[in-house]
Amino acid sequence: MERTFSIIKPDATRRNITGKVINCLEEGGLRVVAQKRIHMTEAQAQEFYAVHKERPFYNDLVSFMTSGPVVVQVLEGENAVVRNREIMGATNPSDADAGTIRKEFAESIEANSVHGSDSLENAEIEIGFFFKADEIVG
Ligand code: CMP
Repeated sequence: MERTFSIIKPDATRRNITGKVINCLEEGGLRVVAQKRIHMTEAQAQEFYAVHKERPFYNDLVSFMTSGPVVVQVLEGENAVVRNREIMGATNPSDADAGTIRKEFAESIEANSVHGSDSLENAEIEIGFFFKADEIVG
């Protein structure tokens, strides 16, 4: 059993499709063990995406992630990190496989509906960024 971190991004909350996204995750074998709807501050988004600070899309990414509410969540399951990334599909929706969340729902590479941790190590860091241990109930 593993845990990973997931964000349903502002393009999905704006279109009121959080339930559809969560359904894909659950149907894909993952379980939501922590969840909250928040409006990220600029400081939070800057720190969360600090690894991309030097990338040309960083400022736009921070503006997008603070443009509306997001749903942050912890997902649990077998191979949760890899499984979540399979269910999400490629970062760029035009490269994503049919049936993935990003193929179905993403609007663009930026407004790509979901974020998921890329490794178990980052999952732990990202979970700790938004959740206290007693907020995760498996
Ligand atoms: P995410 O998994 O949240 O991690 C970083 C985000 O940057 C990524 O999803 C995309 O939404 C966004 N992004 C915007 N432009 C690019 C790009 N050219 N390459 C990679 N990620 C991008």
